[in-house]
Amino acid sequence: MSETSAQITSAKTSGAAANGGNGSAPRVGRALEPHYYLGERALQREMETVFARSWQYAGHVGELPEPNTYITTVAGDQPVLVVRTEDGELRAYRNVCRHRGSELLTGEGSCKRALRCRYHGWTYDSTDGSLLGVPEHRGYAELDKVRLGLMPARVELLAGFIFINLDADAPALAEVTAGLGERLERYNIPDLVPFGIKGIGGSQPANWKIVVENYLEGYHVPIAHPGLMRLLDYQRYGVETHDGWAWFEAPLRDAPSSNRLERAYQRLARPMAGLTEADSKVWRYAVVYPNTAIDMYPDQVNVWQIRPDGSNATADRWACFRHPNPGPVTRLVQRINQRFNNEVLDEDVDLVSAVQTGIHTRGYSPGPLSEREAAVGWFADRIRADVDAG
Ligand code: FES
Ligand SMILES: [Fe+2]
Repeated sequence: MSETSAQITSAKTSGAAANGGNGSAPRVGRALEPHYYLGERALQREMETVFARSWQYAGHVGELPEPNTYITTVAGDQPVLVVRTEDGELRAYRNVCRHRGSELLTGEGSCKRALRCRYHGWTYDSTDGSLLGVPEHRGYAELDKVRLGLMPARVELLAGFIFINLDADAPALAEVTAGLGERLERYNIPDLVPFGIKGIGGSQPANWKIVVENYLEGYHVPIAHPGLMRLLDYQRYGVETHDGWAWFEAPLRDAPSSNRLERAYQRLARPMAGLTEADSKVWRYAVVYPNTAIDMYPDQVNVWQIRPDGSNATADRWACFRHPNPGPVTRLVQRINQRFNNEVLDEDVDLVSAVQTGIHTRGYSPGPLSEREAAVGWFADRIRADVDAG
């Protein structure tokens, strides 16, 4: 990948070729206008046009190791359950009982083939969602069991990560992430195990798109992240956008950092099984549209779901994965990495809350985007296409 340049591979999302053709900076999209961020109605519209139609992270294959295990999640604001059925397949359903709307399963864990609602005990077959049993069924004047099965959702895998989609007509996950699976493969994600923080990890006082956009560019690193700037070779920070995903390569500097912990990380980070020595000198990030971020480090892989929590707040949901048997040195490296992450997150929370405040300004409209913000333009184009078409 050429340094710092945005490789826009989809004419559909960019509306422009990768480069102006006369040595000028590549053309990038326009940032979103403020009305996309403001108010509950804009969010409700996104729930229908973005979150009800796109692939969203649900978990790791290791969370459903055996038949009759399940996890629960949401797609946007819609509850979904994913179950590994008796035949070993993954199935997803809307997590709601067809009787009077109780959430069917909570949390995660083991279940039976017959999923039983805790309210009045209706039971459903996890393998196909069909309604199996209704207590005191003679008490119903009408009960069309065939029409009262669980509502399906889609579930597909990306390199060991489970994604769900509410839209029966959406393109397959493999299609929208074409090319990404191969790049994730070297991290051996199915073999990694969870560790450290998991679940809701805090709230950010900004619209979810402001949080995504902040992740999608490194342009603010020299200004806002002094620690990261010492670690990363900013000149070689690379951005690439594809139809449904974006990719970032952040090579680590060779020169030792002036900071003790950063020097320790530089010295001690070793590539996980499957990675090469060269992989231990680069941090990689991917975003699967709309709200899944995957951080790939030599020592661990983190997934960050950026979930809307109302129109002006974001709930962070984290999952961290590592090799099953890290030695003591790698454990130390992982702790240092976590510290870096917390520091950078604090700095980013400050930035996104400033944007949330600023975009309320009457008369403000966004300025141009730099080539380093090509992925912000990509994301804006995707959001506009979905929201405006919807
Ligand atoms: S709401 Fe589920 S059985 Fe009544
Ligand atoms: Fe940042």
